Amino acid sequence: NSEANNHLNLSGKNILITAGPTREAIDPVRYLTNHSSGKMGYALAEAAVRYGASVTLISGPTSLDKPSGVNLIKVTNAQEMLDAVLQELSNSDLLIKAAAVADYRPKKVAEHKIKKHDDSLTIELQKNTDILTEVSKHRSAKQIIVGFAAESENLLVNAKKKLQTKKLDFIIANDISKSNSGFDVDYNQVIICNKDGSIKELPKLHKKQLAVEILKEITNS
Ligand code: CTP
Ligand code: CA
Repeated sequence: NSEANNHLNLSGKNILITAGPTREAIDPVRYLTNHSSGKMGYALAEAAVRYGASVTLISGPTSLDKPSGVNLIKVTNAQEMLDAVLQELSNSDLLIKAAAVADYRPKKVAEHKIKKHDDSLTIELQKNTDILTEVSKHRSAKQIIVGFAAESENLLVNAKKKLQTKKLDFIIANDISKSNSGFDVDYNQVIICNKDGSIKELPKLHKKQLAVEILKEITNS
């Protein structure tokens, strides 16, 4: 009902949010990462606190300030993010995974700075554990688990596939091919897919405003 959808009261709720990129070390001075400013996850954390929730934010490296009232856990790589999420999961009513987790890490981290020699260099990569897939093995039915899907093509098909394989309650689909929307900018445009098959397309909004709309949608249905 649309009236209920306009109301947001998160008091008494424990909300866990991940944000930012992860950094996977290559050697002591280099790393692999993804584009991610952390703005969407931090905006979700700020909004959740404002509407009364108790919020833990697990963040990869970003240039953003700690939102006040948030319990901030800083991590660097995907393994540390996985460990922190599993540690905090049982105490959470709602998990929102806005982080851009690196899919692969260098198989070996070089102990010393890699010196340049040949014209080409190969670094072997190893797949990182999928955090949401691990979460779905440990979650309870009462918990609400929300993922993000950043896609450059076939937005809804790819997002709905992730909703199913990761056993999520919602996935927030984000078309990164649209200009001035998505990574490293203040605005974003998303479609929220519910596991019941329904979708809600939101207009392009400032991430701070979008955060409130996302929280309404995933807590009121
Ligand atoms: N995710 C995760 N653990 C990973 C990789 C991704 O939990 N090791 C989460 C992200 O935080 C996001 C969701 O899975 O909420 C979808 O991430 P995305 O990169 O779009 O999907 P992938 O499953 O990694 O598939 P691909 O990158 O091949 O599209
Ligand atoms: Ca990925």
